[in-house]
Amino acid sequence: MKLKDRVAIVTGGGTGIGKASAIRFAQEGARVAVAGRRPGPLNEVVAQIEAIGGEAVAVSADVGQPDGCRKAIDETVSRFGGLDVLFNNAAQTYLQKTVEETTVEEWDDCLNATLRSVFLMSKYAAPEMRKAGRGSIINCASVGAVTPWRGGAAYCAAKSGILALTKVLAIEYGPWHIRVNTLSPGAIMTPNLEAAIERNQSGERLRAKCVFGRIGKPEEIAAAAVFLASDDASFVSTANLVVDGGWLTL
Ligand SMILES: NC(=O)c1ccc[n+]([C@@H]2O[C@H](COP(=O)([O-])OP(=O)(O)OC[C@H]3O[C@@H](n4cnc5c(N)ncnc54)[C@H](O)[C@@H]3O)[C@@H](O)[C@H]2O)c1
Repeated sequence: MKLKDRVAIVTGGGTGIGKASAIRFAQEGARVAVAGRRPGPLNEVVAQIEAIGGEAVAVSADVGQPDGCRKAIDETVSRFGGLDVLFNNAAQTYLQKTVEETTVEEWDDCLNATLRSVFLMSKYAAPEMRKAGRGSIINCASVGAVTPWRGGAAYCAAKSGILALTKVLAIEYGPWHIRVNTLSPGAIMTPNLEAAIERNQSGERLRAKCVFGRIGKPEEIAAAAVFLASDDASFVSTANLVVDGGWLTL
């Protein structure tokens, strides 16, 4: 087991990639705090983890806000006694509007949930990881960080910001033995993407952006997150691990 005796937080852990990652982290021996806004899905993931003999706790928190982030970290540490792995997976994934259509409130909401959350969670997690003398922070970006699309102003800008923020965090946290990396998925079949495909009839176009002619699975991102979280990645920091089935090449 690659994450035995580790404590991990997965933000946005109630759905899609976050859910698959929380479950996989637990399968690898981690005790997992599943953080997000809606208790229902979080509790379901905790129940699934407990059903396979793992340990998990649901933490209701808006990670776009300082109080929510402090709460997520405090509850995790008081339940499990420390913090080793932070997967900043939460994002506002549904906004699809041109700049002209995007309101200031929508821009702020998307940036808060997607980029400010990474700043806040990483800021408040660091003291705990410093105490432990080790840590791994994984920030979920997207292929949209480097190949943005029409209608992706807020989302793609936030994801692009994550690439730079990750490097700054990695440089500043390196002396404390905290590794910080970006994980950039391509098209992954989560309920969120499924709904977008239905809305836009975009399945064929997305499959064409993959050398295998298919859409990825949440478990394929979870596997990459386990690698970055584990000691297998002990010399990996500042990196952007692209798991896109070839999107950026095609
Ligand atoms: N699915 C894809 O094709 C794809 C591609 C590239 C990147 N990604 C990234 O992968 C991650 C997961 O995406 P997903 O496809 O599973 O979508 P998703 O919408 O199911 O996951 C996002 C999660 O974040 C949570 N969240 C949003 N705002 C929050 C907040 N303020 N506080 C707490 N939780 C909040 C949502 O409730 C949800 O559970 C995201 O960062 C997304 O940008 C996904």
